[in-house]
Amino acid sequence: MDKKKPWGGRFEAPTDSFVESFTSSVGFDQRLYHYDIQGSMAHARMLAHVGVLSGDECKAIIAGLEEIETEIESGQFAWSVSLEDVHMNIEARLTDRIGEVGKKLHTGRSRNDQVATDIRLYLRDGIDDVCARLRDLQTAIVDIAEREAETILPGFTHLQPAQPITFGHHMLAWFEMLARDYARMQDCRKRVNIMPLGAAALAGTSFPIDREFTAKELGFDMPAANSLDAVSDRDFAIEFVSNASVIMMHLSRFSEELILWSTAQFNFIELGDNFCTGSSIMPQKKNPDVPELIRGKTGRVNGHLVSLLTLMKGQPLAYNKDNQEDKEPLFDTLDTVLDSLKVYADMLTSMEVKRDNMRDAAIKGYTTATDLADALVRKGVAFRDAHEIVGKAVRYAIDQGKDLGELEVKALQQFSDAIDKQVLDVLKVEGSVNARDHLGGTAPSQVRLAVKKARQSLKGD
Ligand code: ARG
Repeated sequence: MDKKKPWGGRFEAPTDSFVESFTSSVGFDQRLYHYDIQGSMAHARMLAHVGVLSGDECKAIIAGLEEIETEIESGQFAWSVSLEDVHMNIEARLTDRIGEVGKKLHTGRSRNDQVATDIRLYLRDGIDDVCARLRDLQTAIVDIAEREAETILPGFTHLQPAQPITFGHHMLAWFEMLARDYARMQDCRKRVNIMPLGAAALAGTSFPIDREFTAKELGFDMPAANSLDAVSDRDFAIEFVSNASVIMMHLSRFSEELILWSTAQFNFIELGDNFCTGSSIMPQKKNPDVPELIRGKTGRVNGHLVSLLTLMKGQPLAYNKDNQEDKEPLFDTLDTVLDSLKVYADMLTSMEVKRDNMRDAAIKGYTTATDLADALVRKGVAFRDAHEIVGKAVRYAIDQGKDLGELEVKALQQFSDAIDKQVLDVLKVEGSVNARDHLGGTAPSQVRLAVKKARQSLKGD
């Protein structure tokens, strides 16, 4: 435990052992090791480039860091709580391995710009992973949309059957939401991909550093413009978690539909056995655990967003130790959103669509009543009157225990003599969806067009 602190020079008494573990972050920030090493290598190369380190010193540092990475990956690295965090653990080990020259690595740098750089590198990769998973899920959705372009189900408002729609169209609504989630992540990436290194503790450094050089080495778009801002703000992380919350909110809503549709009452779909569990007491049960869990996990990501906003709100410039608390919410957000997206794509692929049940529900829900009203309008009835006439007809059908389409023309004519056989043709659910044949509409032909466009957009990047 008792490692010499890299900052120990001005201290006489050792850190209280409880305080040591209380303030330590190595238990969780070791997950940044790869990015910490990348950042250190780029920093060393830059120092050699401007002549602060010799070529040989730089080589020794890079080789030492490479060996440390291998040590960590093979599980041989001994992480030490008394060395506080991932940065000091790796730096101390470097000096163990390569001797005095290891102590030169931290020239012109601080843990403050180092950690901000690590998180940005970590998040940049994280965003790329999230975007790839979003694309996989979108692809799974388009595949279903194409297959189910003609499948009819009731569309709902207020969770009451409203008008017939196609299942392909319904699926593509989720596609659009995820497309915006993708765009939001890409946009956030631009603000993540800015390099803090060179800001040092807060005020920059007196060494003749070349920040453009380091930024290029690490694939950053540019160095941060202000050293105080570079080490202190975590708005990029907040933005990421906020975008992740929106993804989870979308998945949660989607889950709610899958859960409802799996009930005996709806019976629109069946999720694969491998995505459900049984009950220990009720043998008949098949529970949609995966969508329920995702709905639940949404709360935890929303919580992380509130944690980060609260973490930031009271901090004066520049770096404060509060910021060490940014990591766990961030890591857990990324893990949660990646896992949720992955399981979702797999689960949708396992979904059986019960077309007949969907169609029956559309018919039984009087979902073509609007079409009947529209048909009367075409015969010269004013819309408000048509609405009233059809309302009465629906009431009558309910009383008879029948669908509108099952009623005799004569029976319906008691409500309006504008009703005839031809008018009643529009009561067919197929006719209703086919009629909504415009951009963004539910007609199968429109779904096919939208599927084409969707596939094109997936190829676009
Ligand atoms: N473990 C710290 C963090 O995550 C690293 C930066 C520490 N800087 C300092 N001045 N104590 O924020």
